[in-house]
Amino acid sequence: TYLSAKAPVFIAPAMDLDMFAHPSTTRNLELLRSYGNHIIEPASGELASHLVGKGRMEEPEVIASVLDRFFDCGMSLAGKHIMITAGPTYEKIDPVRFIGNYSSGKMGYAIAVEAASRGADVTIVSGPVALKAVNPRIKVVDVESAREMLEACERIFPSCDIAIMCAAVADYAPAHPADRKIKREHNDLPVIELVKNPDIAATLGAMKKPGQRLVGFALETDNEMSNALHKLKAKNLNMIVMNSLRDKGAGFRTDTNKVTIYKLDGGELHFDMKSKREVASDIIDTLLSL
Ligand code: C5P
Repeated sequence: TYLSAKAPVFIAPAMDLDMFAHPSTTRNLELLRSYGNHIIEPASGELASHLVGKGRMEEPEVIASVLDRFFDCGMSLAGKHIMITAGPTYEKIDPVRFIGNYSSGKMGYAIAVEAASRGADVTIVSGPVALKAVNPRIKVVDVESAREMLEACERIFPSCDIAIMCAAVADYAPAHPADRKIKREHNDLPVIELVKNPDIAATLGAMKKPGQRLVGFALETDNEMSNALHKLKAKNLNMIVMNSLRDKGAGFRTDTNKVTIYKLDGGELHFDMKSKREVASDIIDTLLSL
């Protein structure tokens, strides 16, 4: 029934701990999630406090309320085109080496899956990541460097209602990438001269037309709030999602995130640590409230 279902599918796993912990269950749930299905399960925080095992079915009232919410606002993004930048950029040093960063793309891809499950047509402009988007409403444009990402964004943004800038774009790129592999037999230590990369979010901020919404991210380690508020204004964003690397379980490569969202109208929303898919849902709910 599932394999031939064309409608959105909700899954509420109900099994014992060993079955739930089995790698085949974990892998299948991950796959189902990446296809844009909705997995309904008790939050892990709740489990600890109630002393019940993983795999326990979510309370029927909660399942019903998730469905209620879906039918209230489920397709609220139908007809909207959303562009999302995700992952790192690679800046070429020579044919085998690059400057990059630890971004996994998980947050951007989670937002894409959430937006697609609410009916949006999504384009991910993706740096090199190990993730795949399988939802038919998600299109992926693969890029490598910040310059390539900028070109793709400038081309796609004019047809978008919303752009969400999740990518960890390298700030600098080698000024003169070598055509051939740089050899080790140098008497002097090699020096890589860098040039500044374009700010993609700020470029789109300057292109933004009335009715278009632009969302940025700020990954901070200190002075979080003032840095985030500065970026919100400087890049002409409508809202900015701030995560602090000081919070364990937030930021790069994790499956969870803890964010604060600052809106241009001065509003700010603080969220608890959640899965990136739930954070994606909070981000889209906030975006729809603007
Ligand atoms: O200035 P900072 O890099 O901290 O800003 C982060 C925000 O700007 C993120 O939304 C990021 O995707 C975006 N950004 C960008 N192009 C850059 C640098 C950052 O789009 N070159």
